Amino acid sequence: PRTVIFDTDPGIDDAMALWMLARHPALDLRAITTVHGNAPVATTTRNALALVDFFGLDVPVAMGADDALLPRLQRFFPTQVHHEDGLGGGAPLLPPTSRRPDPRPAWQLICDEINAAPGEITLVAVAPLTNLALALRHDPGIAAKVREVVLMGGAFGLYGHGGNVTPVAEANIINDPEAADLVFTAPWPVVAVGLDVTQQVVMPESLLQSLSGRAGAVGDFFWEITRHYQRYYDGRDAIGGLYAHDASAVVYCVAPEAFERRSGPVRVALDGIARGQTIQDHLGLFDESPESPWRGCPAQQVCVGVDAQRVRDEFTR
Ligand code: BDR
Ligand code: CA
Repeated sequence: PRTVIFDTDPGIDDAMALWMLARHPALDLRAITTVHGNAPVATTTRNALALVDFFGLDVPVAMGADDALLPRLQRFFPTQVHHEDGLGGGAPLLPPTSRRPDPRPAWQLICDEINAAPGEITLVAVAPLTNLALALRHDPGIAAKVREVVLMGGAFGLYGHGGNVTPVAEANIINDPEAADLVFTAPWPVVAVGLDVTQQVVMPESLLQSLSGRAGAVGDFFWEITRHYQRYYDGRDAIGGLYAHDASAVVYCVAPEAFERRSGPVRVALDGIARGQTIQDHLGLFDESPESPWRGCPAQQVCVGVDAQRVRDEFTR
């Protein structure tokens, strides 16, 4: 199985992704690191600890950054999507836990695990990329020792899909664009599972309802915590269901063949109205230009197509 460290901000779709990591036979979850994003890091850490118990896991949870690399004057949390508690108002449904966070900061745990198992670890990052950037800053040598970084993030403007926070920026990227740019340009292999593909995978309300009848306490829990999330989508896109963005990134780890990819260096716009936009030079158009912002950056993989039914089937299974 693939050995995974999961960097997350639970988060309704984060919880769905974690459940797959907990149960999929092809995945071996080694540790969880938490970060700001859908809620403050104290909240996402509390959620992660409670989910670990509820899902019957026994893995360390290390708390990470509570703000972007460049601290922001004003914080914004998407309560209209994930609720104040980060879990659609469903956090009180989780049994109380006495589990404590690992004493190390998230970046330290990431560096320790990678250095202890060179070539083995896949980092699955489904939140702002602050912890990964801090790990790279503290120990740039980890880049050569990671098997793969699979991240949910970005909007590459394919098929007319733009961002979900600004017309060009996706949430995980705009919550720390400087960190995202470091992660995309570091010499490790990155696969981006962005909105261009996660918004092709609708989880119908009827599927979640049927799981609540046949997937035990976890199926019931997912039904409850997705009601608030569903109302958000009903009021926005009316897609007859919801997007389980982060779960799509986990499916990539077990079924990469279900994703069509294109290769090329990726940069993140840091200034002005394009801040947070992810741009891949997949045609190598600027290779020759000494001023090219992509020059010398490693080619990374961006997912551009997906077998949506396969993603739903893996989740259901
Ligand atoms: C991403 O942002 C968060 O709200 C979700 O958990 C997901 O990781 C989608 O843009
Ligand atoms: Ca997330």
